[in-house]
Amino acid sequence: MRTERFLTGITTSGTPHLGNYVGSIRPSVQASLRAGVQSFYFLADYHALIKIDDPARIQRSTLEIAASWLACGLDPERVIFYRQSDIPEIPELTWFLSCVLGKGVLNRAHAYKAAVDKNTAAGTDPDADVSVGLFMYPVLMGADILMFNAHQVPVGRDQVQHIEMARDMAASFNHRYGAHFTEPQAAIEDNVATLPGLDGRKMSKSYDNTIPLFAPRAQLQKLIASIVTDSKAPGEPKSVEGSALFQIYQAFASADETRALQQAYQDGIAWADAKQVVFERIDRDIAPLRASYQALMNDPARIEAILHAGAAKARAIATPFMTQLRHAVGLRDLRAQAAAPVKAAKVALPLFKQYREKDGQFYFKLQDASGRLLLQSAAFVDPKESAQVIGQLQQQGVAALPDLVARVTLSDGISGADVDAVLQILRDAKAQAKPK
Ligand code: TRP
Repeated sequence: MRTERFLTGITTSGTPHLGNYVGSIRPSVQASLRAGVQSFYFLADYHALIKIDDPARIQRSTLEIAASWLACGLDPERVIFYRQSDIPEIPELTWFLSCVLGKGVLNRAHAYKAAVDKNTAAGTDPDADVSVGLFMYPVLMGADILMFNAHQVPVGRDQVQHIEMARDMAASFNHRYGAHFTEPQAAIEDNVATLPGLDGRKMSKSYDNTIPLFAPRAQLQKLIASIVTDSKAPGEPKSVEGSALFQIYQAFASADETRALQQAYQDGIAWADAKQVVFERIDRDIAPLRASYQALMNDPARIEAILHAGAAKARAIATPFMTQLRHAVGLRDLRAQAAAPVKAAKVALPLFKQYREKDGQFYFKLQDASGRLLLQSAAFVDPKESAQVIGQLQQQGVAALPDLVARVTLSDGISGADVDAVLQILRDAKAQAKPK
């Protein structure tokens, strides 16, 4: 059985809040304890530079996030926990990848497009205030992932496009230079709770509605007391539907505790009393972690040592891999000059497989270079018809799919973009094979 490699980056641009704890830190720490997985957790401080130009804030956030993850139980002996900027191979790989990725792919990245749309709506230059760093964000993220050949990248829905781009970069690089990279999968975290913030919208730094994870006890109490509620008086029954306070409670409480608070809502508990219940419940979980957090914050040298040890483990993988990649692209020792230009190694290619079943009907399927099934056709009576559908897919890509709903089925977890990427590899291969 292969060891699944999981990899997650945390941008060091803020102070961890309860939403980060429930949505990311708590489930990730739990996942890191599973057998048969190797986990990589890193502080994405190069990514932070894209958003933040306050050096003190970057430093502070890096310390806070490292201390938070460690305080919440991330075990640096068990996982590889490092700081992105301690791995010089990552920016080097970013350059390699930027040379195989089409610029048009980045033009379509959500964050970049949003910035351009905003500028266009405001009537300014479309690229006003857009740094090259923002534009390149997905390439740096691709390098983070491909550097360690991660299989699974736990992300929210908003990051899925970045993983698809990383797959795209892996496929184009492999196509040119041989099979060096694993195509990563997004492990979408749909069942972890998104926590509402003080105002009832999603808890997020950008809404300024967060509760810091390690706020001192008194401040935690004050913040919970400020969560919005309706104006129902004590004694009036209250609804748990749409109650931010209730949802926050649920993310910490057991099923029994949740039912008890639901009953109390029906029985007309006063908001002030409900808030006290929620505060005590959260503090019960957080107080012990808060103590370790404080100890870590007071000992930055210890965190530095942990991160350096993590970087050494990460570089034990990254340095030899980067040597291999440099050789692959032709950045080579000149003394080892090959006598004659070697023919490019034969690279496995994606494949349309046409076949006939015992039922006498004709079928086809599309596999990627590693043999993974991307799509499967329905039965055709006439092989010409099957060939014609293949032709339509080759020419139009995913645009053909709406037309073909009854005739082809995508495998579970395969997106239209995956199919497009593979079809593009096939087209490129064909174009190369043709004598010029
Ligand atoms: N873009 C991610 C975020 O904002 C952070 C990140 C950087 C990341 N590199 C990564 C996440 C690699 C997963 C894998 O949340």
